[in-house]
Amino acid sequence: MSSPFTPDFGTSPTHLVGRTALRDEWKTALRTPTDRLRTALLLSPRGTGKTVMLNEIEDLAAAQGMLVVAVDTSTAGVAERIAEQIEIAREIGGSAADILRQPQTELAKSARLSLGFASLGWAAAIPVKPQWSLRRILTHLATASSSNNSAMLLSVDELHAADSDEARRLAADLQHVAKREYLPLCFAGAALPFFRGVMRSDRRLSFFNRCAKPTLPRISKEDAAAFYRLMIAAADGTVTDESVDAMATACGGNAYKMQHIGHIAWLVAEAPQREIGVEAAHEAIDAANRIMYEDVFRPLWEDLTPAERRCLERLADSTEPLHVAELATIEADPDGLSAMLTSLVDAGCVEYDHASGAVSFGHLGDREAIAEAASVSRHLQAADVTARPLGAHPDCGRQMRRVPGRCVLPLGHAGRCRSKR
Ligand SMILES: Nc1ncnc2c1ncn2[C@@H]1O[C@H](COP(=O)(O)OP(=O)(O)O)[C@@H](O)[C@H]1O
Ligand SMILES: [Mg+2]
Repeated sequence: MSSPFTPDFGTSPTHLVGRTALRDEWKTALRTPTDRLRTALLLSPRGTGKTVMLNEIEDLAAAQGMLVVAVDTSTAGVAERIAEQIEIAREIGGSAADILRQPQTELAKSARLSLGFASLGWAAAIPVKPQWSLRRILTHLATASSSNNSAMLLSVDELHAADSDEARRLAADLQHVAKREYLPLCFAGAALPFFRGVMRSDRRLSFFNRCAKPTLPRISKEDAAAFYRLMIAAADGTVTDESVDAMATACGGNAYKMQHIGHIAWLVAEAPQREIGVEAAHEAIDAANRIMYEDVFRPLWEDLTPAERRCLERLADSTEPLHVAELATIEADPDGLSAMLTSLVDAGCVEYDHASGAVSFGHLGDREAIAEAASVSRHLQAADVTARPLGAHPDCGRQMRRVPGRCVLPLGHAGRCRSKR
């Protein structure tokens, strides 16, 4: 039997753990027009289960007879995506139920929309054209849902990847339809934590700023242990208590890591024929640590500002947790320092104890990972400098976080990056 685990981003797990309370809150919210959770944004690091949670919310909404439109903003415009999805939903027509039995795919999103239109009435889908603006599409669909005594849900994944104009348009249109027109439009979004800074610095994103920001809880050690026992037993495998304990401890609360550890341990031990012993567990933990570095920590490091990176390097150089005052040499402005700490805490890199002022490693940052990422960055920068023609002025070139484009200041410049000279 092949591994029962789902070590991929965006794949709904066979067994969902640690989400009962949040799921119940959403279930109530979708039924309660005044509930704050009806416009909500999940902000958490890669692998914590945002996409899976959005899928759960979409399922809950569909089960309540709502029209569910789910897009991600990493490619093309939201309006075009929705119009395209409606087009596919029309083509799917009667076979929607069959497609929905397959795992979550893009096609499954259109299939669910197809079922939504079947109960709402296909007349609502017919007029939508690819050239319609997002505002017009949302107003039309929410009005149609309203006249059917229902509501619609727009779910938007990877919001941080939208280009700034697209994100601003989405915020303005959601604001207009949900708030000014009082139409029954629910919104569930997901983004990486650095999007919090983007929202703060751009007034035109204030709709997202005002969204509820529910916490996606970390998977507790107990839940992870229960998850391993259940998954392994359901696939006719066996595992020792010591292995379960080691694997559950090593997850560090991250769902992606939990799935990888389980998957690798299963393969290494040759389950279900053989028991998953402690050796297989430790081999899996080591391999999962490498995967976490490549798939989660490295991209996270790329999203950090130079000052945030320096903070982490300072922490990695110290044998003890740092006192926050020791970071003032990196960022002297108290507001700047506080914003930087919040962003590092959100990203899972550090933990900050307000009472004592102690800054220590978070679940996604450890000494080795930070040292390795920092040294890779230095090598890349050095290679970039030597690769330039003689006399050319090397740019910093870092991807800007708040605006599109790269930093144009000289490499190694002081202060913040800038996209314009
Ligand atoms: N509550 C959960 N219980 C079990 N597995 C989960 C849970 N949430 C997510 N996963 C698994 O974790 C991995 C990452 O989830 P995903 O939603 O893609 O994370 P994110 O969108 O935050 O990067 C997937 O393999 C998924 O199956
Ligand atoms: Mg995701």
